[in-house]
Order: sequence, then structure tokens, then C-alpha cells
Amino acid sequence: MSADALVRREAARRRTFAIISHPDAGKTTLTEKFLLYAGAIAEAGAVKSRKVERTARSDWMEMEQDRGISISSTVLRFDHGDLAYNLLDTPGHRDFSEDTYRVLSGVDAAIMVLDAAAGVEPQTKKLFEVCARRGTPLITFINKMDRPSRDPLELLDDIEQQLDIVPTPVTWPVKTFDHGFQGVVDRRDGMFHRWADDASNVRREASAREVWTRDAVSDGAAIDDELQLLDELGLDHDDETFLAGASTPVFFGSALNSFGVEPLLDAIAAMAPAPLPRRDVDGTVRPVDSPFSGFVFKVQANMNPRHRDRIAFVRICSGRFERDAQLICTRSGRKMAAKYAHQVFGQERVTVDEAFPGDVVGLVNATDLRIGDSLHDGDEITFPPMPVFTPEHFRVATPGDRSRVKQFRTGLDQLDQEGVIQVLRHPELGDQAPVLAAVGALQFEVAAWRMEHEFGSPLRLESTAWSEARRTDDDAVDPLRRMRDVAVYRRASGTPIALFRDRWQVERIERDHPELVLDKIVTA
Ligand code: G4P
Repeated sequence: MSADALVRREAARRRTFAIISHPDAGKTTLTEKFLLYAGAIAEAGAVKSRKVERTARSDWMEMEQDRGISISSTVLRFDHGDLAYNLLDTPGHRDFSEDTYRVLSGVDAAIMVLDAAAGVEPQTKKLFEVCARRGTPLITFINKMDRPSRDPLELLDDIEQQLDIVPTPVTWPVKTFDHGFQGVVDRRDGMFHRWADDASNVRREASAREVWTRDAVSDGAAIDDELQLLDELGLDHDDETFLAGASTPVFFGSALNSFGVEPLLDAIAAMAPAPLPRRDVDGTVRPVDSPFSGFVFKVQANMNPRHRDRIAFVRICSGRFERDAQLICTRSGRKMAAKYAHQVFGQERVTVDEAFPGDVVGLVNATDLRIGDSLHDGDEITFPPMPVFTPEHFRVATPGDRSRVKQFRTGLDQLDQEGVIQVLRHPELGDQAPVLAAVGALQFEVAAWRMEHEFGSPLRLESTAWSEARRTDDDAVDPLRRMRDVAVYRRASGTPIALFRDRWQVERIERDHPELVLDKIVTA
């Protein structure tokens, strides 16, 4: 087989995806069940116990150890059937940060997990918006069907109303008032997958299938009516709109009880796209079988000064990654050896000998690499810059030690460039009291730690009254500044960022002044 054909074949069998959800919807449980199905872990609890360790810890020393944990779970790799799956972690709970959003630029599809009792929740919505901007295909899993849940038609409505995407149920729940959840009907082949209360049997779904009829369960007629309604509405899976991010196939199940998990895994195989050719910053397509290229979507700095390693996570877009290759960073023009590349699974780091489009490799001690950097071996390429996301947390920063003002400035510039935190400056206050802006509060802790230990300039952080930011333009700066309780700062690039008290204030201004640019994603 030629080298190009090998790359094409390997790319075609990759599925690189993330799970987006609100905390507690069941992401960890579902992840664990995927790994169990694929035989990548032997027992339930392996993933979960890590999560418990992570959330139970609180003080700073322990947070350092947490770094190790979040490094190790950045990407989970498992094989199932003929396919190789890369599941990229979107950190949630107290680990929620700009990284959570940036990870989504490295995937080709996502699974949106909803709690059947809650429907679309705030964090689902935020992550969804990032996917929608990119047109990422989305498969929906409605979890916890074993528990009291909202009416399934109402849940479809919630998805359509809140997210503006057409839900196309692939399976439909059989749930009756008297008997609770009894299984799902697969609308593609009319088979009824009967629920059995046997949580120990991970693979039971394969054996419990029968043709659906309205007599299969008591109250079956009501379910039959719903199925007919869905047919009449034409809510069927459609590849074209799904791949464009305009419709989402919906599956119902219970991750905890391993029900509906296998069809979901099969759906990733059958519906989600393999890595597609990516475009460079000028819009030119780089075919997957052209020489190696990739981009850095996350940089993880170890907080422990004794092991100050930095891992740059690279999503491979084209070509074959080999251990003895010399990769070139387009921005700096510097070469780096790929021999310290690792694939990370669980607590272990495994040295990578080769990897293909869709895979993620961690480059250890790649101190020069920054988030958004493009790497290549062969034709030079620059991928589009990583978007900067709308911050929601704001603190005024001043030097904790007045004699270290210079270090304060250089340190913050560096952290801003690395994408650790966003630094906003006021034209009059300038460097004296910049505002640090973040997507998740954890980013302040990381910034403060690095400022003190790496740059020798402890930070003093004060809370502010702002909770919303929008990217604006030069025309809008003056009108916005004249408004009450609105401030306009600038990023290092010069981009003006308007700060507001709350969402309602922004909505009111948007309504009253439709001419003002107020964009949610900051870009640069
Ligand atoms: P997350 O990663 O999205 O935050 O959610 P996670 O999987 O940790 O699940 C949150 C809680 O919901 C867990 O319960 C989990 O056991 C439960 N859960 C997940 N899937 C299902 C399901 O299909 N049915 C039911 N009934 N519960 C489900 P917990 O009490 O927080 O943790 P644990 O003590 O059970 O481990």
C-alpha cells in the first residue's frame, strides 16, 4: 500500500469527538460505558473514581496533583469494531475554562448528553453554541430515562426552541404511566429494544430485541400514536443537514444501566464523519493525505516546579506522524523533534510511534509552542487562529509587590499570549490595573500561581461588578462609553471589549441599539 493510501485508510477509520453536557447529566458515566464496551477498561468505576478524586480535592497542593489527572484525561483512545475512537475531554465543574471550548476545535463531531428530567441546561447551551459556530455535527443522547423524565415530545421541542436545531429521533422511548420505562423502538427498523432491570449485563441490548407492535407493552397504543406522529412530521435522520450541524439524531437511554449506549456508539461509527480535510487560514483545503500538519489546541503546564513539563496537545489534520520526524512550527519557524510525543490514556503516557489524521498527540516539553500554533512537515501551513471565547469572570489585577511592576507586565503579556487568561486594558488606566477575564474561575488560580512562581510577581485580584462581555468595534466605543455601567477595554491586539453588569443589560442595549456591534465570540 502506498504511503498516501495508508494515511487515507487510517483517517477513514478514525472518529474524533467530544461529549458536551451540563454537570451531572451523565458524561462521566457514558464515557465509562463506552470504554467498557470497547474493552478498554475492565470494570465500572475506573473513570468515575478519578472524577471523585478530582472534585473532592480543594487546596492548592492537591490541585497540582489534579493537573496530572486532567493531563491524563485530555484524550481517551479506544478501538471498537474496525474503528479507532478519540474521545476528547471537555473539562466541566470547577475545571471549566477556556480550554473546555478550545478542545471543541479539535473534534469532528460531538455527543450532546441531556438529562431527561432537565432537558437543555445552561452549560449545554454554551457548549452547543461553540459547536454551532463551527457547524460541528451533533448526536443527542437523552439520558436517565430510567428515572422520572419530561415528556419526550416536550424534550424535542426544548432542543428545537433553545438550540435552533432540528431533532430527529432515531430511537423512541417506550415509557408508560403505569409501568415506567420499558425500552426504546428503533425507528429505522421498527425493532423494540426491551428494557430489563439487569445493570450487570453490559451487552444485554444485543439479545433483547423484538419487532415492535402496539401489543408489545400495555399502553402500547399511545406509543404507536407518537411514532406515527413522528413519521408524519418527517422527523427522520438526514445525513446532509446533520453533517451541516442543522439537525441532530436523538437517542434515548440510560448510561448508568448500559441501555442505549451501544446504538450510540454504532451511531458515531455510522453517522459521525471521519476526519475531513481542513482549511488553512486562506481557505485552501489541505487534503488528509498531504504531508503532516496539525495544530495545538491545548497547552498544559505542570504546576510542580520540580517537574516543570509542558505538554502541547496537537490535533493531527493531515499526513502521518512519525517519531523521528522534525516538525516545524509555522509561527516561530523553529524545528522540533517529535520523539517526545505521547499518547495519553488513563494515568499512563504511551510513547507514540505513529499517528494519523484525527489523532491527538501530546508533545512533551515543547516549551515554544502556544495554543493555536500550526505544525507541519513539508508544505508550510497556517490554520485559522484559535478563537478567543467570551469571558464571564472578571477581576482587576494589581501587582502584589510594587517593586515588581516590570515582571507584572511581562508575566501578564506572556499569559495572555499563551491563552491562559485574557488581559484587558483601559486606555486611561493602561498597565496599572488591567482586567483579567476568564471563561472559568480556575483560570485565575492558574494565572496567579504562575505569576508568583514563574514571574516572581504575586497578583492582587479584586472582584468586579461585570459578568458579561462582548466584542465590539471602534465605531461603537464612544456610544457604549457614554452608557451607564458600561466599560470598554481593549485586548492587546486592540480589539475593543465592552463589559456589562449582566445579560439583561446587554439584551436591552442590543434591542435599543441594533446598530452596535456586540459579538459573543471574541476572535482575536
Ligand atoms: P457528569 O459527568 O455529566 O457530571 O455526570 P455523571 O456521569 O457523574 O453522573 C451524574 C450522576 O447521575 C451520578 O450520580 C450518576 O450515577 C447518575 N447517572 C448517570 N447516568 C444515569 C442514568 O442513566 N440513570 C440514573 N438514574 N442515574 C444516572 P451521583 O449520585 O452523583 O454519583 P454516584 O454516587 O451514583 O456515582
